[in-house]
Amino acid sequence: MFNFFRKKQAERPEIFFHTDIHCHLVPGVDDGQSTPEGGAELIAREKEWGIERIIVTPHVTQDTFENTPDTLVPAFGRLRDAVRERGVDIDLKLSAEYRIDAFFTSQLDKGLVTPMPNNYLLVENSFIQESWNLDKILFDLKMRGYKPILAHPERYAYYFTNKNRYHQLHDAGNLFQVNLLSLAGNYGKEVKQMAEYLIDNDMVDFIGTDMHNEKHCATIESYLMSKDYRHHAAKLRDRIFNDTAL
Ligand SMILES: [Fe+2]
Repeated sequence: MFNFFRKKQAERPEIFFHTDIHCHLVPGVDDGQSTPEGGAELIAREKEWGIERIIVTPHVTQDTFENTPDTLVPAFGRLRDAVRERGVDIDLKLSAEYRIDAFFTSQLDKGLVTPMPNNYLLVENSFIQESWNLDKILFDLKMRGYKPILAHPERYAYYFTNKNRYHQLHDAGNLFQVNLLSLAGNYGKEVKQMAEYLIDNDMVDFIGTDMHNEKHCATIESYLMSKDYRHHAAKLRDRIFNDTAL
């Protein structure tokens, strides 16, 4: 009987870091959650895994999600209220995931970007091709005092045949954030293999969920109980900066 209960307890998903730096749970501003209650539900689930702090990162993308503090701050307030109403005690912060495009550079010039604590800034490439002038933009960000974190490098298929580009970007002082969903196999075998390549080459600085919805949440929960997860966690545990940098 005793062993039975021990086994049950071990089957709860548990995570090896306590700060999620990438998710789409702010209601109604991107392709993530559409209601505050939906966002609060997924935050409650993250808390059950052992997450204590979440930096929410809605998309800011030219044409599709041209968010500014005017759209994000009130929506974030609605999320925070719903989380409080649900009685979930968790540290929530607002930042964003910035696509490197002309909208981003214009927001930057106007002083309208919302960095993470300690001036970390989550940026992403387009999925079709590398962003125009990427090296110069990343360099300029660093000159302005930001610390750019490239979101999910393992998902940019145009780098798969040019792995050297990962090394160039990382050697230039750009930090890499890999998605738990990539390691869980959510985007296919090639993306998972690329995430593992980045782990094995010591290029993973942060982990994020990149969770948008219930399906993502369920995928992560099954992954957290897998052998794969234990294998990845053992390699990443002392390597990532989620809980120490920001
Ligand atoms: Fe994202």
